[in-house]
Amino acid sequence: MTRLIIDTINPDTDIEALASLNCREITEWHHYVEDGSRGAPSTWEKLSRWERWRHGGPWLDPNLLQLHLKILEEAGGVVLVARQKEEIIGELEIAYDVGIPQERRAHIVWIVVDPAWQRKGIGKLLIERGQELAAKMGCQLMTVSSQDQASYNFYTSLKFQKTDRLLYFTKVLGNGKPQVQTSDVHMIPLEWKQRPQPPIGFKLAIGNNYTPSYTWSYLRNMSKLYELMKVDIPSPQLWLLRQKKAEAVTVAHNFIRLWLSPEGEKSTGFLATVLRITEELSRKNKSSQLKVYSFPSHRKLLEASEFTFRTEESYLSKPL
Ligand SMILES: CC(C)(COP(=O)(O)OP(=O)(O)OC[C@H]1O[C@@H](n2cnc3c(N)ncnc32)[C@H](O)[C@@H]1OP(=O)(O)O)[C@@H](O)C(=O)NCCC(=O)NCCS
Repeated sequence: MTRLIIDTINPDTDIEALASLNCREITEWHHYVEDGSRGAPSTWEKLSRWERWRHGGPWLDPNLLQLHLKILEEAGGVVLVARQKEEIIGELEIAYDVGIPQERRAHIVWIVVDPAWQRKGIGKLLIERGQELAAKMGCQLMTVSSQDQASYNFYTSLKFQKTDRLLYFTKVLGNGKPQVQTSDVHMIPLEWKQRPQPPIGFKLAIGNNYTPSYTWSYLRNMSKLYELMKVDIPSPQLWLLRQKKAEAVTVAHNFIRLWLSPEGEKSTGFLATVLRITEELSRKNKSSQLKVYSFPSHRKLLEASEFTFRTEESYLSKPL
């Protein structure tokens, strides 16, 4: 292999090539019908941005990818690319949480190598360079979640160890009337701009496969992504919930992410209450279905709240 260069992305000149690299992973393009199921075969050119997203996320359209990378950058993340004779043949995205003492973790958001260049050590080189950067940034741990056997084998070959399981649940909300009973819980709506960062000292209790700052940055910019895709989905709304000394910041949206203060973590039953209120707030915010990622420790709570378990991912980590 000649002249393989690994460096950071140039956002002015690399976006088209990066989207094109990611599109090479997709073997068949098709439309989506109203109910979300697969429609007629198509070509990339004929698909809307929303349909391209549905094939695998923001990486498959240059405009969506550009916004996605801005969101990652806002959260302090970094993008490395592998170049072979000026052509981009691999990409690695990492989110950091250096400013949050209990985290100090680098999370692999995405890695891809051109199918024609796989199994030649490029993925390994990208991760090694990412590890060096993360260690320099003060991270003690690198984490990733893996959905399939091939990537699982890739990470374990690089000495990542499975440290947990990440469970994915959904719940259909239907059209029931929201009944938010505030009783002894104070509910304070927050503006995103009031809080440019995740609440300091709060822990992301549910929805924690990514780093808190990246999760936060994504939610904050969700409305811009929806605008670009021309979809009519309400933007996430932010709430502070307080019950005596216990506090939580929660998001009314179709994907649950909620943060608990240390007092909130200690308080028995607070998470269940916050979950129930989040559900009602999301219903009020016109969500018809709720999705959530969680570690097994919250499985009982989610099932008791009538969430249905769907799939499981492996959560792997490696000390740096
Ligand atoms: C996962 C991926 C990035 C690996 O990149 P790569 O450049 O092919 O990986 P490397 O050549 O550095 O592989 C290093 C080792 O990982 C393991 N490995 C990599 N791909 C594997 C596969 N498909 N099946 C089994 N083991 C694999 C092997 O042990 C390999 O060493 P070997 O080739 O000497 O046996 C690449 O397959 C890819 O882009 N996949 C599609 C996107 C994806 O799934 N990304 C993961 C998101 S979590």
